Amino acid sequence: MSTVKIIEDASSVSNDVGLYDELKATNDIRRIETALSSIGRLPKDFDVTLLISLLNHPSPNIRLLAVKNIGKAKNAELLTTISHYAKIETNTIARREAVSTLGRMRIAEAIPILIDFLKDNDAKIVLQAIRALLPFKANPDVAFALNELNQHPNEIIQSVLSKETTNKLRNGKDKTHAKSSDLLKNVLVSGDVRETIKEIPDESIHLTFTSPPYYNARDYSLYKSYENYLEFLVSIFKEVHRITKEGRFFVLNTSPVIIPRMSRSHSSKRYLIPFDIHPILTKIGWEFIEDIIWLKPDPSARNRNGGFFQHRKPLGYKANSVSEYVLVYRKQTDKLIDWNMNQYEQDIIEQSKVPGDYEKTNVWKIAPSNDKIHPATFPRELAARVIKFYSIKGDLVFDPFGGSGTVGQAAQILNRYFLLTEQENLYVERATELLSAQSLLNEFPLTVYGTEAFRELMKGQGQI
Ligand SMILES: C[S@@+](CC[C@H](N)C(=O)[O-])C[C@H]1O[C@@H](n2cnc3c(N)ncnc32)[C@H](O)[C@@H]1O
Repeated sequence: MSTVKIIEDASSVSNDVGLYDELKATNDIRRIETALSSIGRLPKDFDVTLLISLLNHPSPNIRLLAVKNIGKAKNAELLTTISHYAKIETNTIARREAVSTLGRMRIAEAIPILIDFLKDNDAKIVLQAIRALLPFKANPDVAFALNELNQHPNEIIQSVLSKETTNKLRNGKDKTHAKSSDLLKNVLVSGDVRETIKEIPDESIHLTFTSPPYYNARDYSLYKSYENYLEFLVSIFKEVHRITKEGRFFVLNTSPVIIPRMSRSHSSKRYLIPFDIHPILTKIGWEFIEDIIWLKPDPSARNRNGGFFQHRKPLGYKANSVSEYVLVYRKQTDKLIDWNMNQYEQDIIEQSKVPGDYEKTNVWKIAPSNDKIHPATFPRELAARVIKFYSIKGDLVFDPFGGSGTVGQAAQILNRYFLLTEQENLYVERATELLSAQSLLNEFPLTVYGTEAFRELMKGQGQI
């Protein structure tokens, strides 16, 4: 029978003179683990040689817990033991713990050892070493070693380092963040977005939600090639990035398209637009946040099953497409979401809270919408969800491909402002009809501008 007493209260351990004997007296892995996990501060006069001997234990978890506790002694004489262990340990998690232990000791004598670990092949070890060295960044050796890492290929290491070197005030206030120009509130610009978007000042938009024109799938969109189509979209989303405020969101609704076959002797061709555009967006500076699937009821899909349903031969299977992507991006920044929230008055944040039940998964079941004029609207419910989750009351929401103005309608209902651009007169008229009914009582009733009038309006407008 083992003599180990299972220690239930960690705080009692610091004075528990029997811990040493207890650890020594058992071979039961679970009991050793429990004892090691229960140690708070090391008891005075605790002989760490027992813990050091556990660094050879066959169980990686015991080795991990042992090294964690050895570090609590904060004894510079143990540095060589811990760093030697960190070098030879074969279990990745235990090795990372050893380097983290070196950091937690917070002693200057560990600096050369930690600098050595900056060359490790495991990016997590490098990150642990960086974290441990940051409190000593005034030390010239540390500053030099961290600077040397600037070319490190790992993106998380890059981002941690750039966060540290940036001069931006992380907790500071940006007085204009919660505001937007009155001139842009509840505005519909009739014209080609390639022209009109150039007039919108930098950092004036809180959220963009849009569904771009399809590739050759409808008569309003004709592009020379698929590449040309992607270039067009990217040129707009680059501008959306410029006009978006720091750390705010861009939500893109797209789906694969199919170009029907020319004749029975040809095949149809499918383009996976969201996947093709994603890498370009991240390069522009949009950080990927969520992939939401908009799921429609089965009957809403075009039936592609006619042939297969009859012949049942493999290779010819075609799925009815009942989903679209709603991809969420954030304008890359060193600041946390909390920073964005802190730019608002507390009562505005309270009023913007999302009440009641809400969809907790990334599959949003929403029926598609129909409009008597516009052939490709998205449902107001979809726009409302995006606006509720990704903007604050009083924000300015933009849709560069405004269509019938669905984003504007949802924004108004949710006490946000909208800015839309749309090039087809017919849809501008439809959006005007749908939006003005709602905006009559609004502090900023709908205003529609042509491209030239908008250009004049924006002349000399700085950033807000
Ligand atoms: C998929 S629809 C958007 C529909 C909209 N979400 C709605 O619910 O009504 C895309 C819209 O982009 C517009 N569009 C296409 N190219 C454009 C351009 N260069 N400038 C402005 N609008 C454009 C089309 O006329 C179309 O109305």
